[in-house]
Amino acid sequence: MEVGLGAAESRELNIGFFSRMIRKTPWVRMKVAASLDGKTALDNGVSQWITSDPARTDGHAWRARSCAVFTGIGTVLEDNPRLDVRLVATPRQPHLVVVDSRLETPLDADLFIAGRTLYIYAAEQNDGKKLALEARGATVIYLPGPNGKVDLAAMLRDLARHEINELHVEAGHKLNGSLIREGLVDEFLVYLAPKMIGQGFGMASFGPLTELSQAVDLEFRSTEMVGPDLRIVARVKGRDQF
Ligand SMILES: NC(=O)c1ccc[n+]([C@@H]2O[C@H](COP(=O)([O-])OP(=O)(O)OC[C@H]3O[C@@H](n4cnc5c(N)ncnc54)[C@H](OP(=O)(O)O)[C@@H]3O)[C@@H](O)[C@H]2O)c1
Repeated sequence: MEVGLGAAESRELNIGFFSRMIRKTPWVRMKVAASLDGKTALDNGVSQWITSDPARTDGHAWRARSCAVFTGIGTVLEDNPRLDVRLVATPRQPHLVVVDSRLETPLDADLFIAGRTLYIYAAEQNDGKKLALEARGATVIYLPGPNGKVDLAAMLRDLARHEINELHVEAGHKLNGSLIREGLVDEFLVYLAPKMIGQGFGMASFGPLTELSQAVDLEFRSTEMVGPDLRIVARVKGRDQF
């Protein structure tokens, strides 16, 4: 007789917890909303809304299961998003994490939500801006890497120390590209809209690769229709072997 969840299902449900305990880093899931030709924003930066209402609602359910949502200053400045959970019921709001090398987050940005934990990781020290952001409720952490930007691998380790199990990335092509280039992404959650956009921004700026053998190898875990859009969950091969 089968009793309760199997070990494999239980591990999947708690993959972030296992990741943090064993690897000392969160499980990193990158969410992307794109056209069928893989574009996440028009050339002029407009990206709202490529996918449909049902896809956005589904995206909020994935946000809700995460411990923290993660974005870059490019998205903050372009879209002024809240990045909270509004479209599904949730017992708590996930934290928000922003990488913002020079502390350019506007003090009147919509992401300041009372009671939500907000971590801003920066690379350049500016104590005036740090104090102003902290007065708005943010925790500012300096973590510069060798390239003058935030050290993303160190940031993940720091988030694990803050008990972040699952990190839900919703960023633009630059931060997405850095995360992939540095081998920090475990899984992709991609919504594809039945649209062609042509010129525009892709999912992630990295490369150019010179050999196909350098591609990030994935395996599709699931494909499902969500309203008119297609949802694909794809995992980087071997990433769950810990
Ligand atoms: N369709 C979608 O799924 C989706 C989701 C989100 C956003 N978007 C769209 O994406 C566009 C914004 O794209 P974006 O690429 O400018 O924004 P982004 O990827 O969210 O943010 C990029 C910025 O993050 C900062 N950063 C800090 N540390 C970094 C590091 N180690 N590596 C990389 N970046 C680091 C950099 O700025 P500093 O060096 O100045 O800190 C960089 O310019 C908007 O049009 C938005 O609408 C689309």
